[in-house]
Amino acid sequence: MSEPAQNGGGSPESLGVEPGSVLDGPRDLGLATSWVGRRVHYEKRVDSTNDVLKDLATSGAAAGTIVLADEQTGGRGRSGRTWFSPASTGIWMSVLLRLELPPERLAPLSIAAAVSVAGALAEQTGLDVRVKWPNDLLIGGRKLAGFLVEAAQTAGGTIESAVLGVGVNVGLAESDIPPELAGVTTSLSIELERPVERLEILRAVAPALEHCLGRYEVEGIAGFRERWRELSSTLGREVTVSPNASRGPTAPLFTGTVTDLAESGALVLSFASGGKREVWFGDVTLRRTKE
Ligand code: BTN
Repeated sequence: MSEPAQNGGGSPESLGVEPGSVLDGPRDLGLATSWVGRRVHYEKRVDSTNDVLKDLATSGAAAGTIVLADEQTGGRGRSGRTWFSPASTGIWMSVLLRLELPPERLAPLSIAAAVSVAGALAEQTGLDVRVKWPNDLLIGGRKLAGFLVEAAQTAGGTIESAVLGVGVNVGLAESDIPPELAGVTTSLSIELERPVERLEILRAVAPALEHCLGRYEVEGIAGFRERWRELSSTLGREVTVSPNASRGPTAPLFTGTVTDLAESGALVLSFASGGKREVWFGDVTLRRTKE
């Protein structure tokens, strides 16, 4: 990001703490958590919080350690996309997980996180926050938040530690949004038409993640399916799932109706022909608007 964007909601100091500090989240930030955010590394500017946290993971940081940045210069999303993360306008953070998971259980974690954070943001703000498979949060069809889970340490085919990256657009103003994201990206302050404090949102998100992670470890995606069905922006609708960049240009494209979320976290598509298929990767586009 070349120029720091103007903050559409809350002052740049709205977290109320100096960047460069290591904080005790419950004590210093008022987080209602026991292990998520027990240590928060709050940085002024980083490339990607996921990368900073991976380095801390290899140095032995504890589960629940958070890296939170005021600005990311190389924030990234799924499939190598960039994540617009200008200064003082969002929650750009990563949480360290030490879960001992088989690799196939890692990606669905971002769905569980999306469902949990959608609920927390809806409760906090009263907005109609929807989950778009696999890991986007939308308001009115525009993107509010995204989740990026990546392995940090692996051993013998098991994920030993991972980072869960969370980006929530809090104070972005319409004028901050670059032309290529106009009409695609939104923020809480745009939707609420008032300034929104990042700390208020962090206080809603951190406990939701802690609850989510505990539940995911025990129940997997099954513990989140019912809520996913309630919050899904695509359930019951006709969609096209196109291959995403990481699958290569020849991956197949499917058009069907979304009928469920599988136990694995795959999207279940039903076809006019009567068949069904689970889709594991790709970008979902709606084919029809809701009546
Ligand atoms: C997506 O929508 O594809 C995922 C977006 C994830 C963005 C967050 S911001 C904090 C963390 N650091 C990153 O580089 N990405 C994630």
